[in-house]
Amino acid sequence: MDSKIQLYKMSLDERRKTIKELANLTDEEILYYNGNLTNIADKMAENVIGTYELPLGIATNFLINGKDYLIPMAIEEASVIAAASNAAKIARIKGGFTAYADEPFMLGQIQVLNLDDVEVAQIEILRHKKEIIELANTCDATLVKFGGGCKDIEVRKIDEGMLVVHLLVDCRDAMGANAVNTMTEKVKEKIEELTGGNVLLRIITNLAIYRKAYSYATYDKDALGGEEVVDKILKAYEFAESDIFRCATHNKGIMNGIDALIIATGNDFRAIEAGAHSYAAMQGYAPLTHYSKDKDGNLVGSIAMPMAVGTIGGATKIHPQARTNLKILNVKSAGELAGIAVSLGLAQNLAALRALATEGIQRGHMELHARNVAISAGVPIEIADKIVKIMIKDKKITMDYAKEIFEKIK
Ligand code: MEV
Repeated sequence: MDSKIQLYKMSLDERRKTIKELANLTDEEILYYNGNLTNIADKMAENVIGTYELPLGIATNFLINGKDYLIPMAIEEASVIAAASNAAKIARIKGGFTAYADEPFMLGQIQVLNLDDVEVAQIEILRHKKEIIELANTCDATLVKFGGGCKDIEVRKIDEGMLVVHLLVDCRDAMGANAVNTMTEKVKEKIEELTGGNVLLRIITNLAIYRKAYSYATYDKDALGGEEVVDKILKAYEFAESDIFRCATHNKGIMNGIDALIIATGNDFRAIEAGAHSYAAMQGYAPLTHYSKDKDGNLVGSIAMPMAVGTIGGATKIHPQARTNLKILNVKSAGELAGIAVSLGLAQNLAALRALATEGIQRGHMELHARNVAISAGVPIEIADKIVKIMIKDKKITMDYAKEIFEKIK
């Protein structure tokens, strides 16, 4: 793949043509991006009257574990896709992102109440681990066939009257909520029999601590704008580390990228959000990213967080755009997708910190806004950039002014 493709310089039709070629899409697949998916939507949720569409753009320049990626992002906010592509371009200089994902283990929780003795109940469950696991694995023969299924059990004492049993389920390439929830329901009676207590809730937890993804990148100091910019970014990071108000927004910026990819691939963004923030709060709310400076003065960024995504199941295959977006990504497993998601989050965070620590984020927004205004005013795409520069310089971003400059240039 040509890493230097400049989608932002193309018209919408040219972009579609380029992505169609690069990702080997069929005529039918590229047409999905025209929308009109009401019939499919009607099968996905209740009381459907239509669909609600978001802009779908492609982030470029991403090099992750030595492989180039085009990353589809569904997001309504201006500048996010450009910012991610820009940070990825800087990361490429020093080899791009290095990502890793844990094995896809999710936790199913079973709440046990009314116990005579919590300690004894705990021991009885552990003693019968093997039977519980075997029973859970009768639920999903396909998952077991592909090497997944319930693999272990944990027991946690919440207080004298409440115990929680965790089923550790390897979900392979699925997000796994259905498989896990079915298993927790299946073992209810067995757990009651073993403990003499009553089982109440049986549900997956989104705090997927055993299914984290990680990524790091070194950002060249000169490409960032010099060592003083690196130092400013480190100070911005310290702010997030030491203040929860700032930290909330720091993590929100990370999720700008991650959610956009999660939505584009038909995954459950509420689950990812819940996992991200509960994980960030485990030892007092903290940033999901970390930054330091290497011996040459370059910035080293890293990220670690739960990333329970699937490439099969749910909407990933039913929704034609989600399916095609996975094709554009060219991912082979849920783990690979998880590594891309966190690398994107890391890139997004770097872009935000760099902008905030230098010129502020409004200039980027203004450029995009001015570009939209110029194009809406009928300015041909080839000269839009020139007109945008003039409008920003003169602090006059209106359609009339765009037309006026265009007339003069002509
Ligand atoms: C805006 O959507 C995201 C930022 O506020 C993130 C941040 O402040 O780090 C720019």
